[in-house]
Amino acid sequence: FPMQMPELAKCSVLMRERSRVEETIHAMQRAGAGSLQVISDFDMTLTRFAHNGKRVPTTHNILDNRLLINEDCTRKMRELLNTYYPIEIDASRSAEEKLPLMVEWWTKVHELLIEQKIRRDMLAHAVKESSAMLRDGYKVFFECLAEHQVPLLIFSAGVGDVLEEVIRQNHVFHPNIHIISNYMDFDQTGVLQAFKGQLIHTFNKREGALSHAAGLRELQGRPNVVLMGDSLGDLTMADGVSEPQNVLTIGFLNDQVEERKESYINSFDVVLVKDETLDVPNAILRYIT
Ligand code: TMP
Ligand code: MG
Repeated sequence: FPMQMPELAKCSVLMRERSRVEETIHAMQRAGAGSLQVISDFDMTLTRFAHNGKRVPTTHNILDNRLLINEDCTRKMRELLNTYYPIEIDASRSAEEKLPLMVEWWTKVHELLIEQKIRRDMLAHAVKESSAMLRDGYKVFFECLAEHQVPLLIFSAGVGDVLEEVIRQNHVFHPNIHIISNYMDFDQTGVLQAFKGQLIHTFNKREGALSHAAGLRELQGRPNVVLMGDSLGDLTMADGVSEPQNVLTIGFLNDQVEERKESYINSFDVVLVKDETLDVPNAILRYIT
């Protein structure tokens, strides 16, 4: 790589068109931090996929704690995960085919969670006791964006309340962060009674982008976008940007690598294979800002 970015020369970094990536990064650098926004997925993108051979929990799975839900609910949520997660990442099915099944998965899980009468004041404890983990290099990532006042839109089909607690407990919840996610609705006594607003799952982020992200004042006038995700559905997260100029998409390929490699390379500008760090996004952001 001609630029001072040895991180992009590693063999875990795949690019369909290296020259286009270079040109995009150069154009973003010329325009500067004032023209930039970063849009990122949360689960398995800002958080690690695995650590020491064990899967790191997603925000939904962080709720799997006796402080919040009973054994029966844990068992049912696991069964749903075992049924629907393979569908979510199945390279042989289209997003259109997956969409109704994702709605089914999320709806069932949210109904189960509501039955459990989860208490708001227990969420922080559950996050503390969980093995939730942001990717290596997360401090540099969050601090760099905050320092240069680059807005970071975290766009997650996970649980917003849990996601916020994870970044708070890691001390990186800075004022440049905006979040679109599934938020819990608590009654007056602090007990979960519903989820707020339109359900967000992995394959309807486009609608959320158009209805929510497009209206965020802090994101206006920033036509350059670095987008990060781990699902092909994440690619629509920038659809709310009004007049995009340069968009660079970075995809984390965590699972089913051989089966999905081709489609990821064809869909994301930069593909990171089994990379548990934020080193590549950090190198790009360091160069641009
Ligand atoms: P994300 O948009 O922040 O990545 O969050 C969505 C991820 O959460 C998606 O990969 C599927 C996962 N998930 C679970 O792990 N357990 C669940 O019960 C549900 C509904 C989703
Ligand atoms: Mg994800």
